Amino acid sequence: MDQGTASPAPPPHTGLATRLTRRKPVRRLVAESGQGEGGTLRRSLGVWQLTMISIGATLGTGIFVVLGEAVPEAGPAVVLSFVLAGITALFSALSYAELAGTIPVSGSAYSYTYATMGELIGWVIGWCLILEYGVSVAAVAVGWGEYLNELLDGTIGVTLPAVVSAPPGHGGIVNLPALLVVLLAMVFLLGGARESATANAVMVVIKVVALLMFCAVAVTGVRAGNYTPFAPLGLAGVNVAAATLFFSYIGFDAASTAGEEAKNPRRDLPRAIILSLVVVTVLYCLVAAVAVGAMPWRDFTGSEAALARVLEDVTGHAFWSVLLALGAVIAIASVVLAVLYGQTRILFTMARDGLIPSVFSRVHPRTGTPRANTLIVSAFCGLLAAAIPLGRLADATSIGTLFAFALVNLSVIVLRRTHPEMPRGFRVPLSPLLPLVGFGFCVWTMVGLDLITWTVFGLWLVVGLAIYFAYGIRHSRLDALDGEAR
Ligand code: ALA
Repeated sequence: MDQGTASPAPPPHTGLATRLTRRKPVRRLVAESGQGEGGTLRRSLGVWQLTMISIGATLGTGIFVVLGEAVPEAGPAVVLSFVLAGITALFSALSYAELAGTIPVSGSAYSYTYATMGELIGWVIGWCLILEYGVSVAAVAVGWGEYLNELLDGTIGVTLPAVVSAPPGHGGIVNLPALLVVLLAMVFLLGGARESATANAVMVVIKVVALLMFCAVAVTGVRAGNYTPFAPLGLAGVNVAAATLFFSYIGFDAASTAGEEAKNPRRDLPRAIILSLVVVTVLYCLVAAVAVGAMPWRDFTGSEAALARVLEDVTGHAFWSVLLALGAVIAIASVVLAVLYGQTRILFTMARDGLIPSVFSRVHPRTGTPRANTLIVSAFCGLLAAAIPLGRLADATSIGTLFAFALVNLSVIVLRRTHPEMPRGFRVPLSPLLPLVGFGFCVWTMVGLDLITWTVFGLWLVVGLAIYFAYGIRHSRLDALDGEAR
């Protein structure tokens, strides 16, 4: 095991283009699986837990909070926006399923692109995954704070003052609840992957029950008139809402970050990814259809904790909405846990490749988890959650994720050409057509995001590239001659 030793610099005659396009041999990726600095990750997760990790990472702020922001954009046709965003996610999910079943390592899209498109693109995708995971933890934690306030209000009649529950610029100084939930998740993660997976599974069951309860109660308030006009803001509105709601699907790929802790990753990762997406899509469409049927779409404008509002409107008293708020608090906490987990594992893999400092791949001998990594990532996400508002974070998350998904779709096509012989736990049907359609959907949805989000994304990439050229390229453990996959 060569982890932890400084890598030799690439031979001096190696050109820049060669360095940037050097690919990590797929067999080496798989051979290193599980190994970290000073220990190995433990293989303890089966298909059930992997599916729960994906559902855990997916179902949360999007449906409980962001839905409320999307309804004013599309009207009752928000249901179509969910379908559209779900289809975008589905094509990419198929591609993820194929790659996770072929290269079952913890780096997810980062490792897939490193193996197929070379180091620079791999790095850019790893950097985008920090938006998908690290920044989304913060976004989700902010949504958690909104429901916590709803719960406190409904049970003991107090809400936290804005000064300690909102970020600067939004009437507050620090968002303490958001920080708290990140720290709670950190405590579980330090305990071990199996323990975290069990806690996550319990929370997933609770959130699915909470959403089903929402449907059962709110359906009694559905009025046909609320569905007309169905698309008051036209197709453009449906599209804009779909881009916003894409956030609610992010996370189905989280099982792919557990490749090195899965017992039978080739078989179970593809199953977990597809199954989790099917479950959340059905739930989302159901919840959205009932929500806009039960409350006039204009009433969603400016409502925090939207689903709780709907229940209060329908039943006229607080009992059900408090119960829902409790479900949401637990639901969103599980997203924080599962996504934080994913972020630590992606950085673990990047550190093992030398592109970021090796402290991220150090494994704690007792718990078999990357402890220092978990502490650093939690501190970063906690600070972000405490200081930045939800909407901005959610959009930044979506654009980074869509970019990564787009390249995952292309990676399927490349890997089929470069490594047709590799065993695949799952194959995308009709390749290259479906991966290309998946790519097209991702680009289309990105176009729906606003200029500020694009600007933030551009700046993010510039910072990422600066770090790569200052650090990654010099510490990469791949030297340019080690090119089995080229
Ligand atoms: N999909 C995750 C959520 O909605 C990020 O909370």
